Amino acid sequence: MSFLFSPLELRSVAFRNRIFVSPMCQYSSEDGMPNEWHFVHLGSRAVGGAALVSVEASAVSPEGRITPWDAGIWSEAHAKAWKPVADFIRKQGAVPAIQIAHAGRKASCNKPWAGGKPLAPAEGGWQALGPSNVAFGHYPPPRAMSLDEIRRAVEDFRKAALHSLMAGFDVVEIHGAHGYLLHSFVSPLSNLRSDAYGGSFDNRIRLALEVTRAVREVWPGDKPVFYRISATDWAPGGWDLEQSVMLCRRLKEAGVDMVDCSSGGNIHDAKMKLGPGYQVPFAEAIRSGAGIPPPAVGLISEPAQAEQIVIPTGRATPRKRWAWRWTGPINTSVAMSAPWDAETLFSA
Ligand SMILES: Cc1cc2nc3c(=O)[nH]c(=O)nc-3n(C[C@H](O)[C@H](O)[C@H](O)COP(=O)(O)O)c2cc1C
Repeated sequence: MSFLFSPLELRSVAFRNRIFVSPMCQYSSEDGMPNEWHFVHLGSRAVGGAALVSVEASAVSPEGRITPWDAGIWSEAHAKAWKPVADFIRKQGAVPAIQIAHAGRKASCNKPWAGGKPLAPAEGGWQALGPSNVAFGHYPPPRAMSLDEIRRAVEDFRKAALHSLMAGFDVVEIHGAHGYLLHSFVSPLSNLRSDAYGGSFDNRIRLALEVTRAVREVWPGDKPVFYRISATDWAPGGWDLEQSVMLCRRLKEAGVDMVDCSSGGNIHDAKMKLGPGYQVPFAEAIRSGAGIPPPAVGLISEPAQAEQIVIPTGRATPRKRWAWRWTGPINTSVAMSAPWDAETLFSA
């Protein structure tokens, strides 16, 4: 029996296998709204046989966008617009998920294919917010958030979870990775605050836990909450695996069912050690140290490699029928929607 293609259940949500399509920013929205691009991008991956298909980082507020073209989930209008996408993903047998996010000090940038540089207000940019006025690399310094702004961010995440529920998603993932708002608060390199949200480990993780509790309060008990972390800053004196394990224990107590384990993104010139499955050891340390299942992501490109990783596997995949293509080498099968089923009849 293939591990990768065995079913999984979290709370009362059933997953047909352990292949998850990771959230992937598309920078293709106007005012945070999904459009035909998102429908095709996400729908085609659900048709491809994955167990979970996640919507990209979707901003909880307009100023929480990385670029003016990010997806959003800050209003009921966004919830209505995402509903057909979530419904379509479910109809293909995949679990529809959405990642809710605030870009923090990495907000207000151009699209990657337009250079990705910070945008000045005259170019449609805005003042980015962070825990302190410590800039990310060459970016303009963020404004250190007031306590009121921190409280508002918690409420924005809570409302975003409610809108995600209205839209019909079965999993909500809190984006706590890649140097965005929540990651910048937990890391001692970006958080120099001296109030209740900075300094000690407990203070630095306060916002992450407050957001998680707020989301859990409104997210139904029978549906899972995921949390994405960067397990390390890859920088001396920064956030690291040991602190990640401690945070994950607390996230579990706060009602998180799965930690989506990534790394880096908070320090501009960090030296990441990339290689096949390079983040798998982080996921394994979190599973054994915090007792919480983490999907592994990062350069997992071969089915046999994924089969050996005894945790669900997430990929940012440009290949639409990735799960289906992996069934061959593992000598198993995956239930597909009818047109694709027909196609398998004609493939060697
Ligand atoms: C085009 C693209 C967009 C991405 N957008 C997001 C995102 O919205 N949220 C997130 O947490 N990670 C994002 N990522 C990271 C992926 O989810 C994934 O963790 C990472 O690419 C490592 O997996 P891989 O080696 O299979 O690509 C993105 C990656 C790519 C390639």
